[in-house]
Amino acid sequence: MNTIVITGASSGIGLETALALTRQGFNILGVARSESNCNKAKERILSENPNAKCTYFLADLMQQREVVRVAEEITSYLNEKCNGELYALINNAGCVRSWYMTTDEGYEQQFALNHLAGFLLTHKLLPALKKANGRIIMTGSQSHKGIKVRWDNIMLCHRYNPLTAYKQSKLCNMLFAKGLNDRYAEDGIRAYVVDPGLVNTDIGNKETGGLVNFIWSLRKRHGVPPSVPAKTYAFLCEQKNTPEGLYYYLCKEKKYSKQVTSENADRLFELSERLCDIHYGKV
Ligand SMILES: NC(=O)c1ccc[n+]([C@@H]2O[C@H](COP(=O)([O-])OP(=O)(O)OC[C@H]3O[C@@H](n4cnc5c(N)ncnc54)[C@H](OP(=O)(O)O)[C@@H]3O)[C@@H](O)[C@H]2O)c1
Repeated sequence: MNTIVITGASSGIGLETALALTRQGFNILGVARSESNCNKAKERILSENPNAKCTYFLADLMQQREVVRVAEEITSYLNEKCNGELYALINNAGCVRSWYMTTDEGYEQQFALNHLAGFLLTHKLLPALKKANGRIIMTGSQSHKGIKVRWDNIMLCHRYNPLTAYKQSKLCNMLFAKGLNDRYAEDGIRAYVVDPGLVNTDIGNKETGGLVNFIWSLRKRHGVPPSVPAKTYAFLCEQKNTPEGLYYYLCKEKKYSKQVTSENADRLFELSERLCDIHYGKV
């Protein structure tokens, strides 16, 4: 049975993706921060599919030491039960913020969770992904378009605009996937970004201020249920031969920003490696 790690698998898109993939027979390792939400998620999966194989790991992925700890726990699990192989990693956990807020390391929170957490977790799980010719899928967004990375102020600490920070973090998802393919595609590892579209989840109602909370409560009513984007992750995981594209929406390739270049991807790798104190190198 192939194993897939999904971050942010306790609600919204991550939970529906976990459900869809357990139905396809994958062994799911979910990662999220709240024990009660993880327990509820597991109960829901098992109530809909009593044969589902799923295990939850707790970690606040905004903090790098937590990413490292949970990566070690997952690696031990994979070594013990899965011959050290990881079929796919879905970096989906994400947040929106209304104000400039930082992590324990002093990093802006949307950048830290939406980009750096996946960058660091992927690095730690790369040996297991390599063993399985694995795939790495980021949850991106259409909002990565119409923006450039602010290389001289990537945390946006001067004149913080929360929407700009969110959009930039989603552009980083694209650049990270592009950089992974540049480095590892010829070794059998492939990276993708899923655009879920507008989805009716509570992302804008968690740890946000009154205005963002209010606007998101109105906006999300126009969104599709999270079971819709879950089909695209299932599509990318079920293909025997890895699909060739980078950016997918509703199971089809989609055009992405001209900012998604190898040059920008290399620049982001260099910066993120410094911020996470790691070095990717070649597989
Ligand atoms: N909704 C949309 O329209 C939309 C559109 C484009 C892209 N996206 C992207 O989709 C992804 C999932 O978002 P969603 O809409 O499904 O929202 P969601 O329902 O709030 O799901 C976010 C997931 O991340 C987890 N999480 C949040 N902070 C965390 C932390 N510090 N450590 C570990 N896990 C954490 C949440 O846990 P809890 O259950 O404890 O909150 C939840 O499982 C995000 O990357 C988002 O940017 C969403």
